Amino acid sequence: MKRVNHIAPSILAADYANLATELKRIEETGVDYVHIDLMDGQFVPNISFGTDLVASMRKHSQLFFDCHLMVVQPERYIDALAQAGADMMTIHTESTVHIHGALQKIKASGMKAGVVINPGTPVSVLEPVLELVDQVLIMTVNPGFGGQAFIPEMMKKVEAVAAMREASGLDFDIEVDGGIDDTTIGLAKSAGANVFVAGSYLFKGDLLAQVNTLREALND
Ligand code: DX5
Ligand code: ZN
Repeated sequence: MKRVNHIAPSILAADYANLATELKRIEETGVDYVHIDLMDGQFVPNISFGTDLVASMRKHSQLFFDCHLMVVQPERYIDALAQAGADMMTIHTESTVHIHGALQKIKASGMKAGVVINPGTPVSVLEPVLELVDQVLIMTVNPGFGGQAFIPEMMKKVEAVAAMREASGLDFDIEVDGGIDDTTIGLAKSAGANVFVAGSYLFKGDLLAQVNTLREALND
């Protein structure tokens, strides 16, 4: 099956004091996704922002809001995030003892549902929930901060999830997050990913020029 590639700029690397402008800048590059990292200072050491900020961002943008929850018990925020206008809610298997039920609730809320695993978590935990999800996210860094180095060993996990998808006949996207740049994006694509989060690489220079280097690397 031919899958569409999406480049998902991570708002974590943008200027939070000018989010409306940053969203406009992202839209002007022609990408359709924005990746939004919610962190609680518990599941990961860092604190970013919560669902109210997502609601404010929604007033300024029609981009697809790809929300990555790095919080303990993310099921507590399903209703608020749906109300805020998020399109996709992606939650960590490590963050709740009720991953299956939480994904069911996300689907029932009307949002798309995503599941994500840390670098130290095996893909086998995904198997029981694959039929519930629209996206599997394989972390290519340990979550919490932008600007970390891509962990190439994670490509085996992307390949394994692509094989699980093939064997099951299911249809979901495979996303990678962390250390994506113009060289690592090609490795992730070859392994089977089609949604590529990029933060520090995109925002370190002219956004459109940086996005275009990723497009070239993808041959898009
Ligand atoms: C890290 C976040 C990422 C982060 C990626 O925990 O989940 O989305 O913004 O940043 P880069 O692309 O700089 O690794
Ligand atoms: Zn993320």
